[in-house]
Amino acid sequence: MAENIDEMRKIPCHVAIIMDGNGRWAKARNKERAFGHRAGSENVIKVVEAACDLGIKYITLYAFSTENWKRPQSEKKALFSLLNEFYKKEIKRLIKNNILIKHIGDISLFPKKTQDIIAAAEAETLVKCSDPIITVILALNYGSFDELRRGLISFSHDIKNNILDIDNINNETIFNYLDTKDVPSPDLLIRTSGECRLSNFLLLQIAYSELYFTNTLWPDFSKEEFSKSITSYMKRDRRYGGIDL
Ligand code: FPP
Repeated sequence: MAENIDEMRKIPCHVAIIMDGNGRWAKARNKERAFGHRAGSENVIKVVEAACDLGIKYITLYAFSTENWKRPQSEKKALFSLLNEFYKKEIKRLIKNNILIKHIGDISLFPKKTQDIIAAAEAETLVKCSDPIITVILALNYGSFDELRRGLISFSHDIKNNILDIDNINNETIFNYLDTKDVPSPDLLIRTSGECRLSNFLLLQIAYSELYFTNTLWPDFSKEEFSKSITSYMKRDRRYGGIDL
C-alpha cells in the first residue's frame, strides 16, 4: 500500500462507511435479518483493525439512521441489542489498542439501557485513550437533516443570546454547529451492497469527499476489499474545484 512518505500522505485521514447489505446477506442464507446484522457487526471490528493498520485516523460508520425507525420493532430490538453487546464486549479491546469511540446523532431516543452503555464506554475510552491511534465514530440515530435541525436550534439560541454575530458567519461557523465539529470532513465515503445513494449521511461533510461504491454486501466487505477502496482513493486527483498547476 503506502511505501514511502509521499504515499503515506495520500492515505485518507477520515473514511466514512454506509454499511449496507446485511439484510440481503441474511436472505441469501435463508436467515432472519438480525443474523445479517450480527455478521455486519462482527465485520465492523475487522474493518476498524484494517483502518488502524493503514494509519487512518477517523472512521465513521452509519449504524442506525433517523430513517431506520421505520423498520419492524423486532429488527430495531435486534440492532439495539447488538449495539449493547458491541460496546460491552469490545470496550477492553478498544482501550487496549488505544482506540477512541464516539458517536454522532441523537441517542436520546434509544432505549435507556443502550444510552447508558454507550455513555459509559465513551467516557472510559475518553479517559484511557488520550492520544488515540484511531477514532471510531458510530452514527446512531443520525441523519443530516436531523443534525441540521439540532444545529439550527443551537445556532438560533446563540444568535438570540448574542453569542454569535450574524455579520460574521462563515463556513467554519456552520461546521461548528454540526455533530462532527471536532472531526475533519471525510476524505473517502464508501457504500457497500451496490446501492449508489447517500441516504442522508454526512451530506455537508462529504461535499468534497471521494465516493466509492462496491457491490459487496457489508458482512463480506473484507480487509482486502477495504484496502482496495483505499488504493482506489490514493489514485485519485483531488482538486477541490481548483485546477492542477
Ligand atoms: C444496512 O443493511 C445496515 C443497517 C441499517 C445497520 C448497520 C448495522 C450493523 C452493521 C450492525 C450493528 C453495528 C454495530 C456497530 C454493532 P440493510 O439492513 O439495509 O441491508 P439490506 O439493504 O440488504 O436490507
